[in-house]
Amino acid sequence: MPRADAAGPAGALLSRGRRGARGAVPAGFLFLFWLLLLWPPGTGWAAAPAAGDTASGPSAIAISRGRYLVEAGGCAACHTDAKDHGQPFAGGRALKTPFGTFYTPNITPDRATGIGGWSDAQFLRALKQGIAPDGSYYYPAFPYPSFTRIRAADALDIKAYLFSLPPVRHENRPHDLRFPFSLRPLLVFWRLLYFHPGDFHPDPARSAAWNRGAYLVIALGHCGECHTPRTFLGGMKPALFLAGTNKGPEGEIVPNLTPDRGTGLGDWGQDDIVTLLKTGMKPDFDNVQGAMTEVIRGGLGQLDDSDLAAIATYLHALPPIRHKVGH
Ligand code: HEC
Ligand code: HEC
Repeated sequence: MPRADAAGPAGALLSRGRRGARGAVPAGFLFLFWLLLLWPPGTGWAAAPAAGDTASGPSAIAISRGRYLVEAGGCAACHTDAKDHGQPFAGGRALKTPFGTFYTPNITPDRATGIGGWSDAQFLRALKQGIAPDGSYYYPAFPYPSFTRIRAADALDIKAYLFSLPPVRHENRPHDLRFPFSLRPLLVFWRLLYFHPGDFHPDPARSAAWNRGAYLVIALGHCGECHTPRTFLGGMKPALFLAGTNKGPEGEIVPNLTPDRGTGLGDWGQDDIVTLLKTGMKPDFDNVQGAMTEVIRGGLGQLDDSDLAAIATYLHALPPIRHKVGH
């Protein structure tokens, strides 16, 4: 019903304009402005309805955009219990951490056991604020400290895609955490220390590719969640952003992605990085191992070459940090 929505306020403005001569000029101006706002394709009655658009619910375009963003965000890898042949996005995957084991929740649109009953606002609050519909805080094992930078429009496309999938009935399994980490309300302190909510701000002085790469790395791809060393309380150390760590997820060694020669990716060409992100093959023809294999198979490898090149552009432009990991 975009036509009715659009005509409403515009009509109101017009009739207000007609009522008094003095109001006519600003009202006419506002009406033109209103028309301009509606003009971009797909946002108003001026545009022809997109194929697959239905009167209610998101468009096919939003769903396919969402699917791509879900790949970039690696949501399936964490929210699928692949080991036990679980259904995609139905949760139950164990994540072992120094604080205990987390079991990811069901994010299929099942109303009883998944997120089928969630509103857009609740979904945005979860991804961008790390707050559940009941007001409780999420553990940062859910990488919302990175996802907070996802654009709201992108987050809603992600929701559109998830809600287009078949609902799967699968009860969430409670986390198995050590005391005192089992006390969710204590997260309020963690958040004060380490959670910096906010949007991604593009840098107009940089190229479009750099900005796209920055967005993919910082927000959706949440590369820092694994590639940045953490404090003993599990907060990322901003001064060592992407500089690698010996204590990655499941105790893995996670390499330094900054362009330092010797300890980072300083000797890698742009194509070397793209090949790795696409296929998992390193310049020495070795294959990448462990969590990174999952990141690539879980979606990163499916991204367009231009997006992978943008990631490489951003990584190459990082300040080199001398930080040796591994042996
Ligand atoms: C590194 C693993 C990981 C990744 C990647 C991940 N999640 Fe999660 N997610 C979690 C964990 C763990 C929780 C539960 C946190 C808690 O209980 O406090 C969670 C919780 C959620 C919730 C709240 C569900 C509920 O029932 O309250 C939503 C929604 C969600 N994730 C969506 C996503 C989306 C969308 C993506 C991809 C953009 C994603 N997640 C990527 C681990 C992950
Ligand atoms: C779930 C944790 C995790 C996430 C998220 C992650 N990585 Fe990795 N990454 C790893 C691990 C572990 C390795 C080392 C694999 C190995 O030893 O073969 C690795 C290796 C790499 C390498 C190879 C570097 C080298 O010196 O061999 C590159 C490049 C890389 N990651 C880029 C990225 C980018 C870009 C992102 C975000 C889009 C990302 N990673 C997200 C865990 C992760």
